Amino acid sequence: MAGEIEVKGAKNSATKILPASLLTEETVSISNLPDIEDVNRSIEILAGLGAKITKTGPDSRDIETKNINKFELNPELAKKFRASVMFVAPLLARFGQVKFPHPGGCVIGMGERPIDLFLEGFSALGAEIKTDGRFYHLKAKQLKGAEYFFTTISVTGTEAMIMAASLAKGKTILKNCAMEPEISALSRYLNSCGAKITGAGSPTITIEGVNKLSGGKFTVMPDRIETGTFAILAAAARAPLTITKCDPTQIESLLAIFRKIGIAYETGPDWLKIKPAKNFKGYNIKTHEYPGFPTDLQASFTVLMTQAGGTSMIHETIYDRRLLYADMLSQMGANIIMCDPHRLVVTGPTRLYGKKLTSPDLRAGIAMIIAALIAGGETEIDNIYQVDRGYEDICGRLNKLGAEIRRVN
Ligand code: EPU
Repeated sequence: MAGEIEVKGAKNSATKILPASLLTEETVSISNLPDIEDVNRSIEILAGLGAKITKTGPDSRDIETKNINKFELNPELAKKFRASVMFVAPLLARFGQVKFPHPGGCVIGMGERPIDLFLEGFSALGAEIKTDGRFYHLKAKQLKGAEYFFTTISVTGTEAMIMAASLAKGKTILKNCAMEPEISALSRYLNSCGAKITGAGSPTITIEGVNKLSGGKFTVMPDRIETGTFAILAAAARAPLTITKCDPTQIESLLAIFRKIGIAYETGPDWLKIKPAKNFKGYNIKTHEYPGFPTDLQASFTVLMTQAGGTSMIHETIYDRRLLYADMLSQMGANIIMCDPHRLVVTGPTRLYGKKLTSPDLRAGIAMIIAALIAGGETEIDNIYQVDRGYEDICGRLNKLGAEIRRVN
């Protein structure tokens, strides 16, 4: 494999901006939307609520939510992906009510992924919360500014509270916030529509509520996880790849490790070129909130470590069930010891062999594709919907680099 690959818009930014369009009556123009399942489901949820959605280009939409008169999320869609929870705050803030089921998504947390921080945060802003076991009903004539401390750092929790507080009466101070770049992007966009948010990208965010927000324009930022995934693929497959339309400064935690283990690269303002190394060393990682090592690159990094010399400890600290793929890599020939549900030790380098696998979640799915591309023989990966949730046309784009991937069924 070799060549150039372009990074698409960020899933975890697009799936916040689409719901944020509910915060205003005016038109919101969004461009660089990735054509992925989670974004398409978000658009379906918006359409189901009564939004007018106009396709203005291959990756852009105008969204107008003036005539929304439904405040209930379609349970079938909401159960499909975690980001459906992002619709709750804007509906509650603008219309004073919302009904929704527990959101679905990757099976990476204990049982269902919790939403306690959302409920606690909305309650701090004055929302009344009821549940009948199947649905949550939230009501608040007018949300009121408050102080809220996140006892666990949460990306979507921080984003939901920013949206809710933007239309609340008075000042909200959020403490121990997540600092992911997607949160800063959401805040910059809302400020361009008249919101008063300061501190996004730091642990403390202050929001002065306003009565109304205007429409606006938003270009979805490049997907930093896709950037990191392609960088890992290049390193693992020893493929000279240039990754374009990306922001290398947002994957510093990965590039700093590349420097230490002996994988050379060059960067420009919006590109990253990986220069494959025949031999590189193992490294211990511990996933961490931004700007630390992203949990969303952890599975792909494990695949890379199967090709590295020596032992590497992979320590997943954000989720409880994000090492489920390890067993499948072992079946492919990787030398992996599971220490406990959060830590595994990989010893490399090992040759991998094609197998029949099932993708447990989105990021494990792409890791398996990387493993399959460097393995001898053919690999079949089932449950590929998971990968389609977050990576646009992954087969077509990787095949252009020389991969041989076929979609069956
Ligand atoms: N948590 C709670 N209660 C809550 C919310 C979260 O205990 O109410 C816990 C979670 O169980 C987890 C920790 O807090 O242990 C951190 O989770 P966080 O809330 O930050 O995750 P998230 O906001 O649900 C987003 C991304 C994930 C990404 C994480 C961490 C979106 C839609 N999802 O999830 O992306 O892994 O932040 O960076 O933005 C992915 O893209 O594959 C993906 C899973």
